[in-house]
Parts: sequence; structure tokens; C-alpha cells
Amino acid sequence: MTTPVRLAVVGGHRGGSFDAALEVFRDRVTLTTVCDLDDRLLAQWESERPGIKTYSDYSQVLDDPDIDAVLLATPMMLHARQAIDALDSGKHVLSEVIAATTLDECWELVEAVERTGLTYMMAENYCYRRETMMVLNMAEQGLFGDLTFAEGAYIHDCRHLLFNDDGTRTWRGVAAEGIQISRANGYPTHSLGPAAQWLGINSSDRLLRTTTFVTKSASRHGYAAALLGADHPEAQQKAWLDATDSASTLIETEHGRVISLRKDSASPRPHNMTHYGLQGNAGAFISARHDGEDPLVWIEGMSPGSNLPESSRQPEWQSLWALAAEYEHPRWAAHGDKAIAAGHGGGDFFVLEDFINAVLGEQAPAIDVYDAVTWSSITPLSAQSVSEGGTAVEVPDFRAGRARF
Ligand SMILES: NC(=O)c1ccc[n+]([C@@H]2O[C@H](COP(=O)([O-])OP(=O)(O)OC[C@H]3O[C@@H](n4cnc5c(N)ncnc54)[C@H](O)[C@@H]3O)[C@@H](O)[C@H]2O)c1
Repeated sequence: MTTPVRLAVVGGHRGGSFDAALEVFRDRVTLTTVCDLDDRLLAQWESERPGIKTYSDYSQVLDDPDIDAVLLATPMMLHARQAIDALDSGKHVLSEVIAATTLDECWELVEAVERTGLTYMMAENYCYRRETMMVLNMAEQGLFGDLTFAEGAYIHDCRHLLFNDDGTRTWRGVAAEGIQISRANGYPTHSLGPAAQWLGINSSDRLLRTTTFVTKSASRHGYAAALLGADHPEAQQKAWLDATDSASTLIETEHGRVISLRKDSASPRPHNMTHYGLQGNAGAFISARHDGEDPLVWIEGMSPGSNLPESSRQPEWQSLWALAAEYEHPRWAAHGDKAIAAGHGGGDFFVLEDFINAVLGEQAPAIDVYDAVTWSSITPLSAQSVSEGGTAVEVPDFRAGRARF
């Protein structure tokens, strides 16, 4: 592979937001092409990035020998098929979340990566946030002790993304029905990714069983009424009977841990960018509830107070940042300023760095196909659990037969 790696963005909306990170790594990767169905968007790319090649049909990307890798930022139900086709065309893949929406796609994707030997990575940027990586660093050093519980939640009112200008549903509204994930945890990787890394899922532990319960949909029709008028069909509660506002997922791991996830993209409230927790037998972490609040930790023997019998002082939370001098993740200590400047809480910088390093053979993909499908499989598994009244369903071992621990 020669440098710079020639990259095509497929899906020019989110795909256009990596500019700052691409600029940092311009010696190693160059954006040559964008592919999108929307001609107006392509015209905008041409005017903002003179010289960029534009395609309106994905098969043109697949047939182009001058493209080494694709960044898939299309609607999520397209990701797996487009990734498999890219791999089969000899191109490396960086896929936006989630990687796949059915179990069959998960298995096909694994087979395609194993068959081609090319690089596949999922761009789960929440794994690279400063506090997420610092907690990973602390967990790996054993500060929280024997880990028992982790939680994550994606709570983001995305109702403004449900409708096109003409009042029809966007893929976010349609996909929810079309692939039976509307009454499920349809977007699990932002919440599960960091928790899975803290617990060593797919390296020292594995997801075993999962169950999901969902609420009724109470928030979408009111938003539709405000946007489209009270008489519009979408403004009726019955239009959203197949949807949920909030999905709650529990996952049991092989080593006796439990992970709790919540996905809520409809309830009216401010966006929680982070909502995580970690518990071990020697300490705990809870994320900030809103901008301006610090994430908190309590570590036995390090933080104030203790519940042990000899202690006269109750345990007290302390700011995670108070421990940064010692426990900042080395990558954030070295590159935090550059990562923040590249946007999205630093995620895009580290995602791109890890992907390019993997394409150039310098490291394994940081979020490989096994992590990608294990985390994404919660979507179809949660749909199955909900349809069966909340039964626990087995999580496939996508690494079965391969060296795991
Ligand atoms: N990691 C993150 O933080 C994050 C943030 C936003 C979006 N996303 C993910 O990125 C993806 C895109 O999200 P978005 O908000 O940009 O969606 P969007 O609907 O705004 O944009 C999708 C784009 O893909 C194009 N498209 C659709 N089908 C195509 C095809 N077959 N070939 C080429 N282009 C096609 C559309 O024309 C559109 O421009 C989603 O999967 C979403 O989950 C991730």
C-alpha cells in the first residue's frame, strides 16, 4: 500500500465532517472521491473541495482502481452490504455505526473480512472520548478492581431528523419500520462500545445473553403535530405504534458481569453526550450529566473515605480530572489538543489515525469486525427479545473457532 491512502467518502453528509482530521493526517491519507445520491450535495462538495471526484452511483466507487479505501457514512441499513461489496472489490472499509442491522449481515461481514484479509474498522467515535479512554486506562491498571457492572446510554432527541422537507419520513423513520428495529435498541454502539472495551469484551470476556424492554412511543406524534399540523397522519399516535421512545437492554457476560444500556432518540430533553458508569469491587466511575459538570470517580484507598469497617469517613466522589496527571490515557496526553481541534470530542482524529495505521499494516484495526458485529448485533437481538416479550436471547460468538483469549 502506497501513501497517501486514497479514500472515498460514501454518504456526503456525516462523511463531510472528517475534514479537520483528514487535514492532520494528509501525508498518510487523501480524500479523492465522494459518492452520494444527492446531486445538490455533490455540487456543494465540488465547490468546497476543488478537484474532488464525484460519483452518484456506488458501483462507480467499487469499479474505480484509484480508490484504496471507503468511509461509509450512508444510512445504517446500507452499511453491511456496502462494506462487503467494497471488501470484495479490494477496498479497505471504515464504516460508520452501526455495522449491520441483521444477524445474517453480521455473519456475512465477518466472512467477507476473513475471506479478503482487508482492513475493516467500525468508526465508533465514543470509544475515543477523553473520559472514556482515561477510564479504560484506569480499568486496565486494575484501579476499579474486579469489574462487575457497566452502563451506557445514548439519550439524544433526534425527532428533528425524522422528516424530509415534504413531510415524508427520512430513513431514520422508515428504517425503524422496514427492518423491525423501531421497537428495539436500534443504535447500541455509542453506549456499548466504551463499556465493552472497559470489560475486555472479545478479549478477556464475552457477551452471553441479552434482554430488552421498550416503552410505548409518546413523543413522536406531538413533534409531528408541531411540524406538520395536528391533522397530519404522522401527528396521530397510531402512526407510531411500531416505535418506542426508550429501549432498555441488559446483557450478561461470561465472567459474571452485567451491562445496562439505554437508547432514547425521541424523548424531549437536552442531549446527554455522555451517560456511562463502571463498577468494580474497588471503585466506581460515573460520567458527567451535562456540559460543565465533571465526570466522577471513587477509588478505594485513593479517593476520600471508605465503607470499610475501620473508616470514619464516608466515601466521597472526586473529579476524574483530578487524577489526570497520573491516569490520562497516553494517547490523550500526547495528542489531546490536536484531537479536540479535529472536532467531535476528539473521536474523529483517533478513529482516522487507527484506521490508517491498520490499512498501512502498522496495527490491527482498533475496533475490528468482531467488535463491530458483536456490538451491532444488539439491535437485531433486542428486536427479537422485545417480540418475545422480553426473553433473554443468546449473543452469537462471532469469534467462535478463532483465538480469543
Ligand atoms: N458516529 C457518530 O457520531 C455519527 C454521527 C452522525 C451520523 N452517524 C452515522 O452516519 C451515517 C450517516 O448519517 P447522516 O446523519 O449523515 O445521515 P443523512 O441521512 O443526513 O445522510 C446520508 C447520506 O447518504 C446518502 N446516501 C443514501 N444512500 C446512498 C447510497 N446508496 N450511495 C451513496 N450515498 C447514499 C444520502 O443521499 C445522504 O446524503 C448513519 O449511519 C449514522 O448512524 C454517526
